[in-house]
Amino acid sequence: MSTVSPQRIPKVTTHKLQEMKFKGEKIAMLTAYDFSMARLLDRAGIDVILVGDSASNVMAGYTSTLPITLNEMIYHASGVVRGVQRALVIVDLPFGTYQGNSKIALQSSIRIMKEAGADAVKMEGGREILESVDRILSAGIPVMGHLGLTPQSINKFGTYVVRATDPQEASKLIEDAHLLQNAGCFGIVLEKIPAKLATEVATGLRIPIIGIGAGSAVDGQVLVLHDMLGITTEFSPRFLRRYHNLSEEIMGSVKSYISDVKSVDFPNEKEQY
Ligand code: KIV
Repeated sequence: MSTVSPQRIPKVTTHKLQEMKFKGEKIAMLTAYDFSMARLLDRAGIDVILVGDSASNVMAGYTSTLPITLNEMIYHASGVVRGVQRALVIVDLPFGTYQGNSKIALQSSIRIMKEAGADAVKMEGGREILESVDRILSAGIPVMGHLGLTPQSINKFGTYVVRATDPQEASKLIEDAHLLQNAGCFGIVLEKIPAKLATEVATGLRIPIIGIGAGSAVDGQVLVLHDMLGITTEFSPRFLRRYHNLSEEIMGSVKSYISDVKSVDFPNEKEQY
């Protein structure tokens, strides 16, 4: 008797992302924070899933990304990893788990890799995080950078407006991007910066540059899943394309359910034993 072995789906790797950049094939990345959504994204063919610390906002209801803890990120990430066969899974190091201490940064990254089974970590910042990047990479953990609007620094900047619009901030961003590449980061997210500056970074660097509010000339795009599906409605920056209005669909379904329960239309004869 012959047995049919399950088909193995080749996993997206950091090398694959590099190849995609060389070939000019755009990289599609979305956030996810749980098993069910991650499985849908993976089956739909997404290249990269980011377990973003935006979970702090969209999953936990905080007003910033600062409160989410490492344990909570590991909880979200482990569900995502269980739902994924193909996509590369990158997990954000949350606020307070890497800044200013490279040993703590390494310990936090090791927990994410070991306890959640992630493929890589992402962290915000340039020159100031280089020692941590170096230490994490020395343990064989791939690191993605994040420049431009860095939400973990909201209390320093006080606003979520477009970043690097003045020449001084723009040249610091370019310098930071080169430093991250030279340190060994496999990619960088550029958030909410002028498209012209993002183009300059993407063409000047070898590694893939993923944009969110950074124009179309970068190597890939990322959006927060709950924003692009219209589950969240209050957040409407110019760069956001909404592909669905799920908040209305969900509320419509819930209202129908309430009405069916109240009118004893649910369950009917066929829906009981
Ligand atoms: O946390 C997050 O979702 C992110 C994306 C906005 C890039 O970092």
